[in-house]
Amino acid sequence: MQQKIVSPSIVIVGSMNLDHTFSTPRIPQPGETVQATRVTTSRGGKGGNAAIAARRAGGRVAMIGCLGDDDAGRHYRSHLQREGINTDGVVISQQIPTGAAFITVDDVGENTIVVHSGANACVGLSDIDASATAIATADLLLMQFEIPLEVVAQSADIARKFNVVVIINPSPWNDLFRESKIHVDIIIVNETEAMNLTQQSIEWLRENPLSVCDLFCCSAIVVTRGNRSTLIFQRGQMLQEVMPPTVVPRDTVGAGDAFAGAFAVKVAEGDSLLEAVAFANTAGALSTLVCGAQSAIPTRHEILARLMSKEIGTKE
Ligand code: RIB
Repeated sequence: MQQKIVSPSIVIVGSMNLDHTFSTPRIPQPGETVQATRVTTSRGGKGGNAAIAARRAGGRVAMIGCLGDDDAGRHYRSHLQREGINTDGVVISQQIPTGAAFITVDDVGENTIVVHSGANACVGLSDIDASATAIATADLLLMQFEIPLEVVAQSADIARKFNVVVIINPSPWNDLFRESKIHVDIIIVNETEAMNLTQQSIEWLRENPLSVCDLFCCSAIVVTRGNRSTLIFQRGQMLQEVMPPTVVPRDTVGAGDAFAGAFAVKVAEGDSLLEAVAFANTAGALSTLVCGAQSAIPTRHEILARLMSKEIGTKE
């Protein structure tokens, strides 16, 4: 039996944004003006959200990224520290402000997001070199695509050299990833990203489960699908599906990040992919119950309590 790691060490190399969220009855069409019922400002960014998720799920977490030398940046850094996240690898750009996102959330919790990279674009290869020891000594490295791709590639190279598991959530999608040969063990994608990744339909993937991972030389690809079953394509095994718990979502912003952070902790603990996905599905679903990307991210205790109280359907 594989040895379980208690409170594994997770490094996130990723983005941190200030989210400006407009609640509207519906997502505006091109050319349409829609009246917002509420405007809020909160902390987000796919990297920061995943870091909070991994921390609350029980990991020891270190964040590597870049913030601006502004109030948003200063508050973000102390917020991460209050959550118990190591910020030694968070650098401050003197020139560029903290990244920002403009978000619309409609009445059924669906969203659209426009991101301005800001300081996230300033994470450089020298910053990764300065944090190489943190990556090399971690149990797992988790990354997304709101930072420069060469930074993702370099971080993955360090991880590979030291046998650190690499999970990538290629969001927002970047076509260069397909040819980049970035080392990755597990890829997490939503349906749209899955189609970008493989240039095949989800139906094709379902029918060819054994060849999907070979495309990216990874051991597994996990496809999240909102309230429908999460698909697990594992090298050498058949496709598996895990249903998320049923919830009535208020705000789906950051649900994918909550999934990724919780999933990373379970994988690093040595759980099976099936167990890790069931745990992460629950984290993602619970994160949609409150507005804001980070405020709703559940703790390990909340995830486990929900998992125990509800039956998670598993189809094979
Ligand atoms: O995944 C949700 C996140 O995407 C938001 O918090 C926003 O900042 C963008 O990065």
